[in-house]
Amino acid sequence: MSAPDEDDLRQRVGRLSLEQKVRLLTGADFWSLYPEPAVGLRAIVVSDGPAGVRGQTWDERDTSANVPSPTALAATWDTGRVEAIGRLLAHEARRMGVDVLLAPTVNLHRTPYAGRHFECYSEDPLLTAQIGAAYVRGLQRSGVGACVKHFVANDSETQRMTVDVRVDDRTLHELYLAPFEVIVREAGAWSVMAAYNAVNGSTMTASPLLRDILHDEWDYDGLVVSDWTAARSTEADANAALDLAMPGPASMFGPWGDALLAAVAAGEVAEPLIDDKVLRILRLAARVGALADAPGHPLTPYRQQEIASELRGAAAASFVLARNDGLLPLGRPGRVAVIGPNAEVARTLGGGSATVYPPYTVSPLDGLREAGLDVAFTPGARSHLRTGAARAPWLLRPDGSGPGAEVRLYAASGELAGSERRDGAAFQWMGGFGAHRPPESIARLEVRCAIRATGAGTYRIGVSGLGRYRLMADGAEVFDATLSMPPDADIAEILVTPPQRLAPLELAAGQSVSVLVEHDVQSSPLAALGTFLELDLDPPHGTDDEEIEAAVSLAAASDVAVVVVGTTAQVESEGFDRTSLALPGRQDELVRRVAQANPRTVAVVNSGAPVLLPWAADVAAVLLTWFGGQELGHALADVLLGDAEPGGRLPTTWPADEEGLPSTQPVDGVLTYGEGLFIGYRGYDRDNRRPLFPFGHGTGYTTWSYDSIAVPVDLAGAPVAVTVRNTGTRRGREVVQLYASRPGSAVQRPVKWLVGFAAVDADPGAAVTAVIQVPERALQHWTERGWVLEPGTFVLAAGPSAASLPLSAEVAVG
Ligand code: BGC
Repeated sequence: MSAPDEDDLRQRVGRLSLEQKVRLLTGADFWSLYPEPAVGLRAIVVSDGPAGVRGQTWDERDTSANVPSPTALAATWDTGRVEAIGRLLAHEARRMGVDVLLAPTVNLHRTPYAGRHFECYSEDPLLTAQIGAAYVRGLQRSGVGACVKHFVANDSETQRMTVDVRVDDRTLHELYLAPFEVIVREAGAWSVMAAYNAVNGSTMTASPLLRDILHDEWDYDGLVVSDWTAARSTEADANAALDLAMPGPASMFGPWGDALLAAVAAGEVAEPLIDDKVLRILRLAARVGALADAPGHPLTPYRQQEIASELRGAAAASFVLARNDGLLPLGRPGRVAVIGPNAEVARTLGGGSATVYPPYTVSPLDGLREAGLDVAFTPGARSHLRTGAARAPWLLRPDGSGPGAEVRLYAASGELAGSERRDGAAFQWMGGFGAHRPPESIARLEVRCAIRATGAGTYRIGVSGLGRYRLMADGAEVFDATLSMPPDADIAEILVTPPQRLAPLELAAGQSVSVLVEHDVQSSPLAALGTFLELDLDPPHGTDDEEIEAAVSLAAASDVAVVVVGTTAQVESEGFDRTSLALPGRQDELVRRVAQANPRTVAVVNSGAPVLLPWAADVAAVLLTWFGGQELGHALADVLLGDAEPGGRLPTTWPADEEGLPSTQPVDGVLTYGEGLFIGYRGYDRDNRRPLFPFGHGTGYTTWSYDSIAVPVDLAGAPVAVTVRNTGTRRGREVVQLYASRPGSAVQRPVKWLVGFAAVDADPGAAVTAVIQVPERALQHWTERGWVLEPGTFVLAAGPSAASLPLSAEVAVG
C-alpha cells in the first residue's frame, strides 16, 4: 500500500465537519490525539524524549532504553553514531506504541545555569544542528516522528511559562533559530513544539515567527504542537500557525474545543486555517503510519544485548578526557579505591519530562567491580541535597520480596478500585490511574512495604508529595501531615522536588518494620492533573567529617583512587535553573583531600552540565562522563582501563568560575539576551578570557599532529581537506574542527565560529584526511535584507579545539 498523496489527504479533510475537525486539534488525553474513523485515522501517540522513550506512563515497570543525555551525544561529534541512537529509539518507540518522540531539544547552552542544559546539545548552533539532524534522521527513517523543541529561545527555566525573551533579529537567526532551520529544512522534521515563553513580546504559541519563519521562510509542511499547556488563547493561537494544543481533552486543558468552534462561527478564525491544521495532522499520520489504509512498517525491537552494546559504545564515545598527566589508561591496576556519592548510584538522567525508566543502570562501582578489579568503596560525601526514594537493600515489598511496594487504590465509596505491585518507592500517575480510572475516581491510596535495617542507627523516613499523608510504622503513627504547594513553583519543579516530611526511626541491625502510607488523593491541589508520591528513606551514615576521613584513609591505602563526583536529577532539572555551578555538598573538599592522600587520583565528573572544578589541576586526570545512560558504569570501566578510548570533545565551554556568564533571571518578566551573538566560546574570545576547558577540547589515548589544510577555490563545490597524523602508540580517533574568522569585517562578528567538523580514525604513524563540507550558511550573516555573504577574505583554521588551531588558510568569496 502506498502512502496517500496530498490530494487524497485534502479530500479526507473535506469529508469532515467543522466539529470533527476542531476536535482533532486538541489532544484526547495527555499523550494521544483523537482518532477519526471517518478518515481512517487511528490515535497518534506521542511521548518524551529525548534520553529514551518514556511511553504513556511514569512507571518503573514500563522500561525503555536510557541513552546518554543529549549533551553527551553532542560530545561524540559523531553524526553516524547519533543517527544510530535515533534508530534505536525509533525501535523502542514502536515497541511502546509511540508514533512521535518529543525530541530532540535543540535550544542552546546559552548559559550553564540553565536547568535543562543536560537536555540540549551544545552552545554552538552548527554542532547542535548537525547532531540534532542526525538524531531526527535516525528516528524518521524508521518511521517514527521527531518533534523538535522548544521553538524558540527557551534556553532557561526561570518563569518559563511567561518570560519574554528579548533577542535581536540577527542573534535569533544566527544562533537560536539556526538548529531548527537545518533540522526542518534538511532533516525534514515532521513536527515542531512551540515553547512556553514569549519572544520579543509574543507568546510562542501565538508568535508571528511560526508563520513567518516556519511556514514562509522554511516551507515547513509539518505540524506545530504546543508545549504542554502552553496554548493559552483561542484566536491568537489559532490564527498563528499553531496546529495542535496539548495535552487534552479540551474540556480540561487548552483554549480550543468549543471556544474555537465559536471563534470560527464568529468569523474570528477562518475555516481554511482549521483545514490546514487538520491537513498537517493527517500528513503526520500518513508519515507515521496512523492511517488505516497506509499503516507504517512494523519494526522488530532491539534485543537487550544489542541495546547494551550500542549504549556502552555511545557512552564511552561521549566521555571527555579533559586532563590526563599520563595516569590513564590504568591498564591493570592493583587495589582501586572507588570513592564518591555518584559511584554507587548511577546518575544517568536529569530531572523533568526527560525522565525515562531504564530496565537497569550500571553504576560506576558496579562497572569497575564487573571488570574484575580489586575494588573497595566508600561514599566520602553526598551529592544529593534531599533525601531520595527508599531503595534496595532497605526497601522490600510486604511479602519480603524486593525491592518494591504494594499500592492500593480506593474509590470514594471505600471500594478497592485497583492495586499495583511496584518495583520502587516513587509513584506518579499523570492524567489518571491507568485506563478507565480518571484522576477524580480515586479518593485514597495506600502504599505498603517493609523497611529492613542493614545496620543499627537512625533511619530518616518520610514522604514527598502534595496533600495529606499519614505514615505508619509497625501500626504506630509516625506523622499525619499536609504538604502544601510552594508559592510560585513551576509544576515540573514540584514534580522533581516536591515538599517533603521526614521523621527519625531508630532501628536495630536486621530489624524490619512494616510501613503504610495513606494518602488522601483529592487533598492535593494538583489532583486533577496527577498524583505523585514518594516514600523516602535516608539510612544512617557518618557525619560529613567522618565520611571524608574514611575516604582519605581508603585512598591512602590503595593503588589508585577513582573519585566519582557530580550532581543529581534534583540539581539539574526542568522547571528551575541552577543558581550555583558548584558541586553540591562537600564534594570539592573530598576530591582535594583524596588527591592529597593519593597522587594517582582520577576525578570522574558525573553531571549533565558544567560544574566548577576548582581542584582540576590537583588531580592526575579529569574525565567528564555526563549523565551517561544506563550503561554508564560499563563504559567507565572500558575507558579507565583502556579497552575503549574516551572519544568525547566538549560541546560546550567548561567555565573556570562564574564570572561573566549570561543570567537566567528575568527582570520584570523580561529576559534580555544582552550578550547577543557572544555566548560560549564566542564570549570568551571577545573578552579575551580563558575558561577551564575550551570548547571542542578533549584528548584520547593517542596524540596527533596537524599536517596540512587544503581549501578549495569554491567552498560550495568542494570540501576542505585537513590531514592529520596519529603520532602516538595506539589507534585513535580525532575530531578535526574547522573555524572561520573574518579579519577586518564591516560587521561585528565573533572572533571565530565553528563552520564544520569531521572525525577520523588512524593507526599509529598513519596519516588520514578529514573531509569537511562547509555549509553555505556558515559564512553568511543575517541582515535586515536577509542572509548576506560579505565579499572578501575569510580565514579557515583547523585544530583539535577552539583554543588550539595549528593550521589555517584563506578563502576569498564573493
Ligand atoms: C516540557 C516538554 C515536554 C512536555 C511533555 C513540558 O513541560 O517542556 O519538553 O515534551 O512537557 O512532557
